[in-house]
Amino acid sequence: MLQFLQSFFSDGSFIPHGHCYLWKPWLVWIHIASDSLIALVYYSIPVILVYFVKKREDLPFKWIILLFGAFIVSCGTTHIMDVWTLWHPTYWLSAFLKVITALVSLSTAIALLPVIPKAIALPSPAQLETANCQLKLALGELANTQAQLIQTEKMSSLGQLVAGIAHEINNPANFIYGNIAPAHEYVQDLFSLISLYEKYYPCTTPEIHAYAEEIDLDFIKADFPKILSSIKMGSDRIRQIVLSLRNFSRLGEAEIKKVDLHEGIDSTLVILQNRLKAKTNSPAIEVIKEYGDLPKVECYAGQINQVFMHILTNAIDTLEESMVSCQGMISVRTPGVTGKTTDNGQNDKPQIRISTQVVDNNQVMIRFYDNGCGMTEEVKQKMFDPFFTTKSVGSGTGLGMSISYQIIDKHGGQLKCISAPLQGTEFIIQIPIHVKHN
Ligand SMILES: Nc1ncnc2c1ncn2[C@@H]1O[C@H](COP(=O)(O)OP(=O)(O)OP(=O)(O)O)[C@@H](O)[C@H]1O
Ligand SMILES: [Mg+2]
Repeated sequence: MLQFLQSFFSDGSFIPHGHCYLWKPWLVWIHIASDSLIALVYYSIPVILVYFVKKREDLPFKWIILLFGAFIVSCGTTHIMDVWTLWHPTYWLSAFLKVITALVSLSTAIALLPVIPKAIALPSPAQLETANCQLKLALGELANTQAQLIQTEKMSSLGQLVAGIAHEINNPANFIYGNIAPAHEYVQDLFSLISLYEKYYPCTTPEIHAYAEEIDLDFIKADFPKILSSIKMGSDRIRQIVLSLRNFSRLGEAEIKKVDLHEGIDSTLVILQNRLKAKTNSPAIEVIKEYGDLPKVECYAGQINQVFMHILTNAIDTLEESMVSCQGMISVRTPGVTGKTTDNGQNDKPQIRISTQVVDNNQVMIRFYDNGCGMTEEVKQKMFDPFFTTKSVGSGTGLGMSISYQIIDKHGGQLKCISAPLQGTEFIIQIPIHVKHN
């Protein structure tokens, strides 16, 4: 054994390989340089492969890459051996290394065979990219559907609540309203009767005279009709609110109808009236209506009212916020009726401007402008994304604008937004007057 090992590492009776090249210096050097370079490159490749495998732990067939590395290392070693045997004829050792290289390369080739079909079946980067895009789309659709479901649920319970309240208030309000006219008539009759008594029995008993003085009969005669007209005004207002609530909820109107959009906007404003009024620490929000001559528009009225509601609520939110966080800075930009903007430098009151007009004979355009804080480019980009909100947790769900976008889109229209920080915000809705039937 020892003898075998000695012969393995000894030169034996062989002659160095250089003799074959007749020790021609150029030939020898060319062999040395190219073998060394090949060995160097062969050794560097596995280092890179090991680094790559380490970085991509998830890769399939990692072992085949490592086997390939071992094969390259053994190939490199045979080239080193070729340089060595130029002077040292240890051909047994050289042969042994070649056997190892042959075995490694053979096993790499055999191992590769079953892997190739699997590797071919692997998705290409382009296929992965396509799948990725499809997944992103599906995810977006899922988020939209989820947003729609939540919003539909929210709006349907809100609609039911509003319709319920409107119905309950409607009956007593009608009693009051309906009885005002006869009450007024009866009171007038009674006053006339008292006047007749006063005329034909001027010398009444002192007790009646004292009582008339005590209750200030003349004042009652003058004030009572005023009280009645106040009651009438109040009940008129209740009827108007009830009408607006009904108009807003439009329960059961799931189908397309021809509606007056101005009515929808006005109803929404009535519902939001409380938020538009002056508060202790903030002035009233002025609403400027620049209504054009709009025809009735075919649409899902309840849904379009929702859009008005979302846009107006956001406008009120930003105007309230602008009193606090924009340090009371209200944008100085006010769009004209045409939509062109003018800087007047004086408009420091919170304002919402609503203008409507017909465009291209077949579309209506509704603009909502608020001179609140405006939006940064980043917020503007994400505003229509479901669940995107800049409001504090609990105060905003981030659904309003994404739902509005979908509703307008469903109507075959467009919802655009023009906004910049401290320049206010303008939402422009454009929808066809007649629904396009597919
Ligand atoms: N008129 C506006 N002025 C400034 N920012 C606005 C305006 N309208 C919308 N935004 C921005 O767009 C975001 C998204 O609005 P969206 O109505 O979808 O959600 P939200 O108002 O935050 O929550 P909610 O679902 O309760 O309406 C808001 O958080 C706000 O940052
Ligand atoms: Mg909102």
